[in-house]
Amino acid sequence: MSVDLRTRYLGLELQHPIVASASPLTGSVESLKRLQAAGVAAVVLPSLFEEQIDHEEMETHNLLLYGAELSPEASGFFPEMQHYRTGPDQYLKLIGDAKKALSVPVIASLNGHTPGGWTSIARQIQEAGADAIELNVYFLAASVDDTSAAVEQRYVDLVASVTQHVGIPVAVKVAPYFSAMANMAQRLAGAGASGLVLFNRFLQPDIALEDLEVAPHLVLSTSDELRLALRWIAILRGRIDASLAATGGAHTPDDVLKLLLAGADCVMLASSLLTKGPAHVGTLVRGVQAWMAEREYSSVAQMKGSLSQQSCPDPDAFERANYMKALKSYTSEFV
Ligand SMILES: Cc1cc2nc3c(=O)[nH]c(=O)nc-3n(C[C@H](O)[C@H](O)[C@H](O)COP(=O)(O)O)c2cc1C
Repeated sequence: MSVDLRTRYLGLELQHPIVASASPLTGSVESLKRLQAAGVAAVVLPSLFEEQIDHEEMETHNLLLYGAELSPEASGFFPEMQHYRTGPDQYLKLIGDAKKALSVPVIASLNGHTPGGWTSIARQIQEAGADAIELNVYFLAASVDDTSAAVEQRYVDLVASVTQHVGIPVAVKVAPYFSAMANMAQRLAGAGASGLVLFNRFLQPDIALEDLEVAPHLVLSTSDELRLALRWIAILRGRIDASLAATGGAHTPDDVLKLLLAGADCVMLASSLLTKGPAHVGTLVRGVQAWMAEREYSSVAQMKGSLSQQSCPDPDAFERANYMKALKSYTSEFV
């Protein structure tokens, strides 16, 4: 049985739902070509950081220190940045070169935390040929004076600040730590986001006991992380007017299938491609196709969201009731 794997994400038609997430693997044209040859449906370039735009002239060393102070995730990414193209000019060139070399959609990524002048780079990103922009909003509300209302407004203003510069779609990659995630998702869509990428991983710093230092700590994901995005995609599917991409913990065909059943429009991969290489895309696509054919699904469109909260027979399973059930079901020989 033939299965139609096509899906729409941010208004772009993808041949199937597997997308290469922002990582060092998407940071050079050679590597991007390998990903396309391996069958990936779209690519997200590594982020251009707000700090790089404001401080293009800074030496890389200073950039590392500055970035590490501002954002814990950035501190995790910066060691990788020797592989990244630093500075807007090189980034815009990467977009242009990637567009020339690839036929799959190229999504550029901006990583920032303040609404302001730097967001006008979005226009140049569009002019360089990007098919869409992924805006990674990375902000840790560490000040005791920051209220949740003010932090949320900052996200909304930032999204509006980027979207006002472009006609191409903008997806917003956010962390899950909002008191009212569903409402926040709706507000981001209202501010102009065409899609949400769920979720940004906050890389938590660690303490190195040997050196008594606080050290950045980048650990690749495992499939155990998947369920955070799974739950929220299932809850949001059909409730907000935006595409939904899953990122975080997708490693196997089963992981991808679960996210599609929950309602993801596409599934983004970084850790699994970094550990298994681009050829893993083929394994995932074939695995998804085989499962769907066996279950007599004719298309991703037909299957997508069929276990979202709105469609599944037990909507409570995504909320508090699930917590109670999970605790009650736990058994141990010592209890
Ligand atoms: C080494 C590395 C570099 C990354 N760089 C970026 C980046 O530049 N921008 C971004 O938005 N996400 C970045 N990410 C996050 C990934 O795109 C992805 O969202 C995250 O790793 C979760 O997906 P996974 O479980 O498939 O790894 C990076 C991840 C890794 C492991």
